[in-house]
Amino acid sequence: AAKKATAASVRSRKGGEPLVCLTAYDAPTAKLLDPHCDVLLVGDSLGMVVHGMPSTVGVSLEMMILHGQAVMRGADRALVVVDLPFGSYEASREEAFANASRVVQETGCGAVKIESGTYAAETVRFLTERGIPVMAHVGLRPQAALVDGGFKAKGRTEEERARVLEEAEASAEAGAFAMVIEGTDEELAAEITRKVACPTIGIGASAACDGQILVTPDMLGLFDWTPKFVRRYGDMKSVIEEAAEKYAEEVRGRRFPGEAETYRLRKG
Ligand code: KIV
Ligand code: NA
Repeated sequence: AAKKATAASVRSRKGGEPLVCLTAYDAPTAKLLDPHCDVLLVGDSLGMVVHGMPSTVGVSLEMMILHGQAVMRGADRALVVVDLPFGSYEASREEAFANASRVVQETGCGAVKIESGTYAAETVRFLTERGIPVMAHVGLRPQAALVDGGFKAKGRTEEERARVLEEAEASAEAGAFAMVIEGTDEELAAEITRKVACPTIGIGASAACDGQILVTPDMLGLFDWTPKFVRRYGDMKSVIEEAAEKYAEEVRGRRFPGEAETYRLRKG
């Protein structure tokens, strides 16, 4: 088996072969994705794509830990990164460290990720200096949906472009080992990628980044609607619908279970 990826090994991939990253939320899926990925992210997107919430704002630390533990049991060589959820790291760097260290200790993951407005740079530094590698997340920050009025690509005004660039540079200078860039145009993603020392991982942020990430159920084709930046590599929705339909038909028609699925116990 290939060597286990670490925050340091991911960091060293800046400018090299693109980093392959996907989200994972459970052990069996993590096991299937692991051989193909450099990073498995236990994203707080799980609030929406696993738990059916309207945004990621309702996700708790306990949910992240539970799913982080599951993914760790399925992952062998990819670096597992766990998102710190809304409310667990913003108020102070001390509170961020207390919650991040719980995530690391209770899951065994190799790093955490925080949505990093400029205010978060000191938290990135505080955690990194104390032994917790931090992945930053700039551009569209889903945890800011309530103030942003939903999920909107970033960089439409000069002021907004400058702010995203500032967030990225502040996080990188504070020691982030990598950063997600979400929902920006190619020029902005390219400028950030050129200016920061750590690898950038794009989602809806063009091929100019040092790697790519997608929300796995989106790329598997589990949903009717997906954002523009998603490419579907599978058709999970049809697979599940067709299987459920066939199963229902066969149970109702008493064609399942059949002889092959029935125990015939030898007696005596
Ligand atoms: O929560 C998530 O899945 C993420 C990725 C989209 C980067 O943060
Ligand atoms: Na996230």
